[in-house]
Amino acid sequence: MERTIGENSETADMDRLSTGEDTMPAVARPLMAGEGVLLIDVKQRRYLITLAHGQEFHSHTGFIRHDDLIGRSEGITVRANRSGNFLVLRPTLSDYVLKMPRGAQVIYPKDLGPLLMIADIFPGARVLESGVGSGALSMTMLRAGADIVGYELRADFASRALKNVTAVLGAGVLSRYRVEERDTYDGIDEIDLDRVVLDLPEPWQVTPHAAHALRPGGIIVAYTPTIIQAVQFREGLSVGGFAQAETLEVLNRTWHIEGQSVRPDHRMVAHTGFLTHARRMA
Ligand SMILES: C[S@@+](CC[C@H](N)C(=O)[O-])C[C@H]1O[C@@H](n2cnc3c(N)ncnc32)[C@H](O)[C@@H]1O
Repeated sequence: MERTIGENSETADMDRLSTGEDTMPAVARPLMAGEGVLLIDVKQRRYLITLAHGQEFHSHTGFIRHDDLIGRSEGITVRANRSGNFLVLRPTLSDYVLKMPRGAQVIYPKDLGPLLMIADIFPGARVLESGVGSGALSMTMLRAGADIVGYELRADFASRALKNVTAVLGAGVLSRYRVEERDTYDGIDEIDLDRVVLDLPEPWQVTPHAAHALRPGGIIVAYTPTIIQAVQFREGLSVGGFAQAETLEVLNRTWHIEGQSVRPDHRMVAHTGFLTHARRMA
């Protein structure tokens, strides 16, 4: 049975992590109570807090009063009462994705950025996303201007996604984000979609439905943790009215640059998943 989640009552009591699109931060606007702030210590450990009058942030270096941050500019360095400096910055979308509460495993920023290009997300794009999980992909596409209907099997994940998305982008975003609790393998009701973006275990079960739901030229993308899933999805695409299929992975290697020591970092996220995309033929 299908159920639509996302009325304002679901999100009214939520913490506001950030200023969203309805209150986009102005240049050099002072930090305000109610918004999310990232504290970064000398070891580059990152703590996401929501500023509130009278509250304190505690760590092994002591505490910092939120009131000592409210009204100040981001980019400052503050000292905890015992020792240790913290850099104070507003979080980026990528920071939120890595720090926000999770139900399901999220797609990581290294894949979210390329996914926006591969799916060619544009303002007003009509997107079917499934499953929505924790909402990381949703908030990324919403911030790029997409209009999303999400299908999600689990009510608790749908609710978590809505909370995370509205915490980051504000409740105003619900005018273009609706989540339905339902099984995508059973079908897609929407038609003339611009994009179908999938992050669920068996995306090949969705290709026949996507073929009906997408407009000619529309794009389907599936994120799959294993190459076996990608291969099965490709088989589904090949019999289902799609062309221009491509599968890729995104490798992201950071470098250590310090004096004469200039080399790739020893550690990297070697594998997350594969991105497979194709176009709907007429
Ligand atoms: C890995 S999570 C998605 C994470 C999401 N992309 C994000 O970035 O936060 C996979 C989601 O697919 C949902 N799911 C699995 N099978 C499904 C189905 N047949 N129909 C709808 N949702 C499904 C799961 O409940 C889960 O929430």
